[in-house]
Amino acid sequence: MTKLRMEEAAHSILARNDRGGYTVPTDRLYPFQWNWDSAFVAVGFATFNVDRAYRELERLIEGQWDDGMIPHIVFHAPSDTYFPGPDVWGTRHRIPTSGITQPPVFGMALRHVHEAAIANGMADAEARTRALFQAALRSHRWWLEARDPEGLGLVAILHPWESGSDNSPAWDEALARVPTTTTTVIRRKDTGHVDASMRPRDEDYQRFIHLVDVYRHCDWDPKRQWTNAPFKVADVQMTAILARATADLIHLAEVLGAEGDKAELAQMHRTLLDGLARRWRPSLSRFVSLDLISGNDIETPTQAGFIPLVAVTLDDAQRDAVMAEIERWLDGMVVGVPSAPRFSPAFEPKRYWRGPVWAVINWLIADGLRLNEAEDLARRIEQVTVHAVENAGFCEYFDPTTGEGLGGDTFSWTAAAYLVLGRRR
Ligand code: GLC
Repeated sequence: MTKLRMEEAAHSILARNDRGGYTVPTDRLYPFQWNWDSAFVAVGFATFNVDRAYRELERLIEGQWDDGMIPHIVFHAPSDTYFPGPDVWGTRHRIPTSGITQPPVFGMALRHVHEAAIANGMADAEARTRALFQAALRSHRWWLEARDPEGLGLVAILHPWESGSDNSPAWDEALARVPTTTTTVIRRKDTGHVDASMRPRDEDYQRFIHLVDVYRHCDWDPKRQWTNAPFKVADVQMTAILARATADLIHLAEVLGAEGDKAELAQMHRTLLDGLARRWRPSLSRFVSLDLISGNDIETPTQAGFIPLVAVTLDDAQRDAVMAEIERWLDGMVVGVPSAPRFSPAFEPKRYWRGPVWAVINWLIADGLRLNEAEDLARRIEQVTVHAVENAGFCEYFDPTTGEGLGGDTFSWTAAAYLVLGRRR
């Protein structure tokens, strides 16, 4: 297919997954609005329809809680093809949502959409950006208060699903401590849509639902959850995305003339950068997350170790080390960057977050490399991603050893990644 035909195909996937101003990640497997998917999708929309890009973010904010949290799923309309649905979460927002969150790509997307709107001379750009900026600021305050109450400069996830890398081997040790007992009856739907060999194992699913049960019993109160959480990991991927989104909000605060907000955001930004700086491990050539329950570093190699590049300016030695390490992960792969490297015992090229390549992760890694002046490697990763989509379609993820497209097909954020990265060629 020509590039133009591919772009048309990407547009039609976004149109097909549109449910009225918001986009489902893919039909049936994920039939609601997902937090970070929508942020990436908004950037994709901004390449051809800025009004629709704003709508995506505005509809996500309909799910924002009074305490500032932006949930990981907003259940705008019922569907029986997904588990766990609103009844299991038992939250009490105006519209049904899940009770956990996801990486705050929102602030990054907002800056992008704002700049596209200004470039297009959109009349209501400033008013729309201003409203979404306030929502983003409230969510960043929530992050620091609810998820870094001890002031480490690192924000914690209380559920693997919050990380966006649901089934990552990085969580294995911490998750193994979580009991498999549940008060909720488990009715998995995912394995009816895609092959079970690509999805999390049953035992892990029980632990995922155990955590939901615990937090529901805490009435979703952030303080009670923090105290009772059987899973608590200060995640470098999450912290890095929050730090980068904070930098983008600082930029927007300047543009909007919001001086007080800018000073507050600048303080948050310093805190997060300090926290990230302490997570660099020269012996591993990457950043590592911290298990807050055991107090141990999580050294298991995953893509998360490279995501801090979107926020941190590396020194020359760090940059050379990261580049060499990424090259090592790419070695022998048909498509990189794998979510876990082949040399790791946890590597499974087809199973969810244990090896496969995600287009949006490559997008973040490439952005981080470019920010750190590793232009050639950034470009290579972008090109590999674009070719993977051209060869295998707009799949959820790709087998790094063969390039085969896996998981759900006709995926919104893969279409968005294609639209954005395809133009950088
Ligand atoms: C899976 C992914 C998560 C994503 C969701 C919808 O749960 O792990 O990152 O947001 O699917 O695409």
